[in-house]
Amino acid sequence: MSTEVRTQRRTVRDLAAAKGGQPLVCLTAYSAPVAALLDRHCDVLLVGDSVGMVVHGLPTTLGVTLEMMILHGQAVMRGSSSALVVVDLPFGSYESGPEAAFLSASRVMKETGCQAVKIESGAYAAPTIEFLVARGVPVMGHVGLRPQAVHADGGFRARGRTRAERARVLAEAEAADRAGCFAIVVEGCAEDLAREVSSLVSCPTIGIGASSACDGQILVIDDMLGMFEQTPRFVRRYADLRGELDRAAAAYAADVRARRFPGEKETYSMKRPQCAPPS
Ligand code: KIV
Repeated sequence: MSTEVRTQRRTVRDLAAAKGGQPLVCLTAYSAPVAALLDRHCDVLLVGDSVGMVVHGLPTTLGVTLEMMILHGQAVMRGSSSALVVVDLPFGSYESGPEAAFLSASRVMKETGCQAVKIESGAYAAPTIEFLVARGVPVMGHVGLRPQAVHADGGFRARGRTRAERARVLAEAEAADRAGCFAIVVEGCAEDLAREVSSLVSCPTIGIGASSACDGQILVIDDMLGMFEQTPRFVRRYADLRGELDRAAAAYAADVRARRFPGEKETYSMKRPQCAPPS
């Protein structure tokens, strides 16, 4: 898909049609100004619950609330006009069953205007996905490394490295696809497993740490902009915003302490009195 100016948002049908074609470009976004910058480059903007870790400084995504997702979802919708916007359902807002999931998803869609929600879809989630899709809620699945299951899985680590894990990832992906997901995020999986998932499911797969064998790619925006000292191995840094911020803050601090800022240019002065017109 090109970066030409688009007048309408991408739809879930556009995404489904991209299976096996040019890779889908996806990034996370959490604020209006960043969404506005990313919009014309991306097919999908995901308001990920990673917002809890990268913006709010939480140790995991488990503390993220529906209210936080709605607030950031509203900001991203305000800032964007052409990408498909997907909002994550946070931990605790959908796992207890289809009805709870529908209440959360419908709130997110009504209050943000986003077009779809994402859930971290263990095999148990298939009835929930079916329930949501049948009621007009497009659902993106998420298999492999599932950050909301960090404690159950014993940490953030790549999945599918044993036969049992591999079978589990494949079963989860197949169940999410059959239940009606329009796309599935595949996180932290070896290339051969990502390839098998991508050929097994009929919808596009979006990889993160899952090789190029997926139908699209996604990264957490703060990771790819170099906001953190440490990032997972699969992240490619396209900027050094952390360094830029540090340099800018140091220069500002030095200017303030040396009374170089504010200078004349940045200072208001009294309006000069207007000359009286000649009588
Ligand atoms: O929350 C998030 O940002 C995500 C991406 C890592 C896919 O789920």
